[in-house]
This record gives sequence, structure tokens and C-alpha cells, in this order.
Amino acid sequence: MASSARSSETGEDSIIRLIDQAPQPVDMTRELLEGLRASQKSIAPKYFYDEQGSRLFERITRLPEYYLTRTEIGILRTTVQEIAELAGSGAQRHSGKPVLVECGSGSGEKARILIDGVSPQAYVAIDISKDFLVSSCEALSSDYPDLDVYAVCADYSQNWDLSEVLDTDARLLAFFPGSSLGNFEPDEAAIFLSQVGQAISGRGLLLIGIDPPKDASVLEAAYNDSAGVTARFNLNLLTRLNREFGANFDLSGYRHKAVYNQIEARIEMYLVSKRDQEVRIGGDRMFIAKDEAIHTENSYKYSYDRFVDMAQEVGFSCTRYWTDEAGLFSVFLLSA
Ligand code: TRP
Repeated sequence: MASSARSSETGEDSIIRLIDQAPQPVDMTRELLEGLRASQKSIAPKYFYDEQGSRLFERITRLPEYYLTRTEIGILRTTVQEIAELAGSGAQRHSGKPVLVECGSGSGEKARILIDGVSPQAYVAIDISKDFLVSSCEALSSDYPDLDVYAVCADYSQNWDLSEVLDTDARLLAFFPGSSLGNFEPDEAAIFLSQVGQAISGRGLLLIGIDPPKDASVLEAAYNDSAGVTARFNLNLLTRLNREFGANFDLSGYRHKAVYNQIEARIEMYLVSKRDQEVRIGGDRMFIAKDEAIHTENSYKYSYDRFVDMAQEVGFSCTRYWTDEAGLFSVFLLSA
């Protein structure tokens, strides 16, 4: 399944290895229909990340209201030396530079901080958005010509099999930034963490970004920005369904909604129907009532205690914890 991709744009040095484990379109159609037929309609968040969605998400990360990315980057910059020391030490059998494995790599901006500070022997980027993954890996590879770069196109919530790329003796630094753990339901988050824990057990560390609960107004602004980029990102789901899954959603018939649910400590994101309407998806038709909300994403916010309890329950211990001065975001280094 591995193949090499050479960029024509970025020049001779940018050779990356592409491992394509992308989900099959038939499975995706089945999953979409199931979600849209349920009494609480939903579309799984991974559908956000087509090429346009990945681009819009990059814009979200630079919005003034979206404090998460810049705060996490600030924490990484100030702690990367310490991370490098901890990631490079440990059992004799796994000596040498670690392999950096990033889940949901996006533009690779955060990985660059770690590559500069930790100088890993290889970088494995896992992302569901293939074209975006390939172009950001190629750009990265041309900036770091001596680094082995593996682009794994996969749904990391389903598949954590890296045997194709990882040599069993390498030390690992798994990296799961951006509070993406919060996009799983808590029970799924624990399962995901335990899979990562098994993969790195005895041979490495997990560096993970977690967004703590805070004032609802700060959170709601971060997920409903004044420039309307998050709304466009959310609505882009319907554009994608129209293009790739034979749907006929009328985008002007839906609006973006983000609300903080204090009890569950999560931001909930919806597309709300502005009127009674019918929609076709391939050969299926369904009715959507005025004010009916299609759920598109949760973003759980974990306090220090709640996250550490969950991580410990699946066998991790917390090596280090960092936060910014205002306590807006947190980064944990865990061992398994
Ligand atoms: N992991 C990001 C988060 O929970 C994803 C995200 C940010 C997102 N803004 C969004 C997902 C808007 C859907 C809609 O913060």
C-alpha cells in the first residue's frame, strides 16, 4: 500500500511515503445515512475535512476568538526543550531519536516546533484529508530534506495500525494536539487513548493537547466567530455531501449553531434547519423539520482531574503538565 509521492511544485527533495488507508466510500455512505435517519440527526465530524474543509479549519485556527491553537503553540515553544529531554531518554533497548507520530496533522505547523526541538528520526503524519495531507507533508519534507516523512491517510479513530511504517524497536513520541481528543465521546476517548497506550507501551510518550472548561462566553465565541468562518466550515459539510454523496442540500436553508453545555462540559455544534424541507441523498429522501438540528460535532472540555483520571484508568501516568499563564489550554506528556 505504500507508495512514494514526489511533488512537482516543491522540487527534488520533497519525497514522502504515502500509506493510503482512507475509508471506503460505500462505508461512508452507509454511515452518513444512518446518522441522518436517527431521531437526533447527526453527521460524523470526520466529514468536515475535505480539501476545502481543511483549508477553512486552518483559517479557524488563526481567528482571534479561537484561542486554542495559538495558546497551544505558545506552550509547545516554551517547553519543547524539556519535551526533547524526556522523549530522548528511557529504556536502553529504545535508544536514539524517537519517531514522531502525529494524529490529525493538518498543516503540520505544530509538528515543525517538535521537529526543530526534538529532531526525530522520522515523522509520521496521520490525517483523513488526503490531498491536504500530501501537500503539507511535501512542504515539510522539502524544508527538512533529511527527515523521513510518512503520510498516512487514515481515520485515526478506527485504525491505529502503524506496523507498515514503524520499526518495532524505535522510540515513539505520539502527538495528539488541538484538543481533538475532545471531539470523541468520553467512552470513545478512553478507548482511543488505550489503543495509543498499547502502541507506545514501554517505548515512548504521548504528548496531548487538552482544552479545560472555562467561561461559556469565551467558548461560544471560539466556536462561533464574528467573521463567520466557523459557520462556513460547518456548512461546508453539506456542500461536500452534495458533491460526493449525491445529496441536494440547499445551503441557504441551514444555519450554524454552537452552544456550551455546562453539565456535559462540551461545546455542541449543529446545523439548524430554517424551514421544513426535504433532502435527497443518493436514492434516499428525508424530511427535516423547521428548527430541527443536525448535530455535527462535540468538543469536550476536560479539567486537569477529569483528564488525568481517564488517562490513568487506561494505564497512563502523567509525566508532565503545562499550561499558559491564563490557564486557557493545557498540554500533557504521558507515559504508558
Ligand atoms: N478539535 C477542534 C476543537 O474541538 C475542532 C474544531 C474547532 C471544530 N472548531 C470547530 C469542529 C468548529 C467543528 C466546528 O476545537
